[in-house]
Amino acid sequence: MTTATLEKRIAAPEIRGAIWQLGSCHDTEVGLDGPGGTGKTFGILYYIHTLLLMYAGAKFLVARKYNTDLAGSALATYRDDVLDPDENIHFYHGSKEKPPAYMYPNGSLLIPNGLDKHGKVRSMEFDGIYINEATECSINDIEFCRMRLRKGKIPWQQLIMDFNPDAPTHFLNQRMIEGRTTRLLSRHEDNPRYWDRIKNDWTEEGRRYVLGVLGGLTGVRLARYRFGIWAAAEGAIYQDSWDRARNVVAPFKIPASWPRYLCLDFGYTHPFVCKWYAEDSDGRFYCYREIYKTQRLVEDHVKQIKALSRWGQPDGDPLPRQIFRDHDAEDAATFERHSGLYTTAAYKSVSEGIQATASRLRPAGDGKPRLMYFANCLVERDQELVRMKKPTCSIEEFDSYVWKQGSDGQLKDEPAKEDDHGMDTDRYLCATKDLKQSGVSYAKSIWR
Ligand SMILES: Nc1ncnc2c1ncn2[C@@H]1O[C@H](COP(=O)(O)OP(=O)(O)OP(=O)(O)O)[C@@H](O)[C@H]1O
Ligand SMILES: [Mg+2]
Repeated sequence: MTTATLEKRIAAPEIRGAIWQLGSCHDTEVGLDGPGGTGKTFGILYYIHTLLLMYAGAKFLVARKYNTDLAGSALATYRDDVLDPDENIHFYHGSKEKPPAYMYPNGSLLIPNGLDKHGKVRSMEFDGIYINEATECSINDIEFCRMRLRKGKIPWQQLIMDFNPDAPTHFLNQRMIEGRTTRLLSRHEDNPRYWDRIKNDWTEEGRRYVLGVLGGLTGVRLARYRFGIWAAAEGAIYQDSWDRARNVVAPFKIPASWPRYLCLDFGYTHPFVCKWYAEDSDGRFYCYREIYKTQRLVEDHVKQIKALSRWGQPDGDPLPRQIFRDHDAEDAATFERHSGLYTTAAYKSVSEGIQATASRLRPAGDGKPRLMYFANCLVERDQELVRMKKPTCSIEEFDSYVWKQGSDGQLKDEPAKEDDHGMDTDRYLCATKDLKQSGVSYAKSIWR
């Protein structure tokens, strides 16, 4: 007599290119390098999922620089596209001792964690670690992860990273050139959603996203996200003054005595930007909070600004001394009506404003710049901007903020008016504070 076993077969996705190569590559540090939407994140998560199913009791860390970014990116892909409800994988919310994790019936664990909040994973060890969008990380983050690999249930230990190309000088590109990280090149043709291998042509979705959205980018973003080139921006406005390592700092508690300023750049289809700055006793500005969001009305932004600022509440922000804004009178009136606060139109001269900002970004006599950003200042990442491969915060604009090019190819003395919303707010603050006359004048006879 034979016993029939009930078996449910779950269809596997088609795997191509770099992800296929990953399956047989056991090098300790691997980087999947490619333009937007080639299937890197999906493919890596599917690969990890298979390993966790195959090796009972295995542990994988899925990380990204900022914890808050994980939920909307890699974890969404994992939950929505990789997991199948019939596999009985459950999310465990964590306890005092154990971090939150996806638990497999065979005892394997997938642990999601932001590298900005090491928390309980600080003392843990893993069979493998995946860092999503690893170009956001520092070399210390990469080394922290490498140190957490241990010989466990999977016969090889691996740190897997994925990213879109950045500047050619980026340390990850250099690491791949030196051979310390194995580069696996991922291309649009690797993604069955966008490329039909039988017809040898783009799918309808591929045509829309790769040719339409990514093909519609310009300059350095086109090179990186459409063509996968580690390109540097030509004619970047702040190339001699902005240095991410110097101008982006770890957040700290801001003393209540430091004056605050708000800068606004209105937009709906383009992002609306609101930045909170604090000024220390030496006149240095720290941008400690930022909203960078499309498709939201001014009145809703005001609600969020009030909720985040918590003016008048214990531990809330002090009221801003001044609110600088662009010259859109209608949006300014809406903002004033809903917030009950006056705003000041910013000093208009663009080139003078750029000079003032550049001089604040450079180190002053004490070696410190006078304009800095908190590393985690962005309140929420706009997922539509992520999809469109547009900057999602001011820090991401610096790289692609370039001088306009004339038809003769010569750079003009004015910025290209694209992806400059966060740049405008810095300009408003620096120009109005450093260049604009205070408006207060004294009679000559004041000392008599
Ligand atoms: N092998 C595959 N089979 C079916 N769909 C896939 C496959 N690989 C990727 N996709 C789908 O294609 C889309 C883009 O994939 P994914 O987000 O993994 O790309 P990516 O290379 O990580 O993009 P980015 O560079 O923007 O992070 C997703 O909707 C994903 O589900
Ligand atoms: Mg991805």
